[in-house]
Amino acid sequence: NRTAVVTGSASGIGRAVTDALLARGDRVIGVDLRNADVLADLSTTSGRAEAVAGVLGAANGPVDVVVACAGISGTSPAVVSVNFFGVVELLEGLRSALAASSAPRAAVVASSVAVHASDAELDQACADRDEASARARAEALTEQGHGHAIYPGSKAALAKWVRRVAVTPEWAGAGIPLNAVAPGVVLTPMSAGLFDDPRMVAAMDQAVPMPLNGHQEPEVIADVLAFLVSRENSHVTGQVVFADGGAEVVHRGSAQ
Ligand code: NAI
Repeated sequence: NRTAVVTGSASGIGRAVTDALLARGDRVIGVDLRNADVLADLSTTSGRAEAVAGVLGAANGPVDVVVACAGISGTSPAVVSVNFFGVVELLEGLRSALAASSAPRAAVVASSVAVHASDAELDQACADRDEASARARAEALTEQGHGHAIYPGSKAALAKWVRRVAVTPEWAGAGIPLNAVAPGVVLTPMSAGLFDDPRMVAAMDQAVPMPLNGHQEPEVIADVLAFLVSRENSHVTGQVVFADGGAEVVHRGSAQ
């Protein structure tokens, strides 16, 4: 049986991934703030270290799969801490345990909104792995009335990290495919509040137009993630797989 680690396992996409992996016989170690096997706050350095230690203790051997789903929306500096640094530090902390597996796989959850213009300063701070500067930039964006750029910026930085490191000796060299899935609007507790206000729904549908089948259930994303972390995926790596009903194509066009 494969040992899988899923962050954000208590809700939404993380819960759907947990169910999908359990259904195919994997053992799942869930990581979340509550209702999980390992309770940890991925927004802080110490919380990430606790998460890694808790997972390694529970796994008691190689880790075959890591799916990092935990994330938050909004306009606070915590968004970059959870969505970028929380994902990257957890994956790096578990990389050696992954490398010890005979068929290791890792995947993260980005977002189709990452195709919207990202903030160069936030991008650079994330690339430099400078969390204090990234949080300061997020605060400045909010003060300047551009807080809406923080979430897409955090996901753009994450997608770039995946593409940058996937082909390095640490990941490809260790036989670990590393990919991102970029969903459109997923019907989970995270997006539920947006549906209360028709103006928010209109803005959301403009930002994330989904001509194919509209808003999606979390199981749709879980299925894509489940393939990327399956034994069958030996050669897909460094990809940002847009599973978004066509939103990315509408934005970027058909030329590439
Ligand atoms: P959700 O809110 O249903 O679940 C997120 C889970 O992450 C929760 O169980 C929460 O407790 C956990 N979490 C949040 N902060 C944490 C922290 N500091 N430490 C540990 N765990 C923490 O959200 P959903 O929709 O399932 O989102 C999952 C991922 O998918 C996120 O990364 C989100 O940004 C991304 N996403 C969601 C979309 C949507 O429309 N719902 C669209 C595109 C991407």
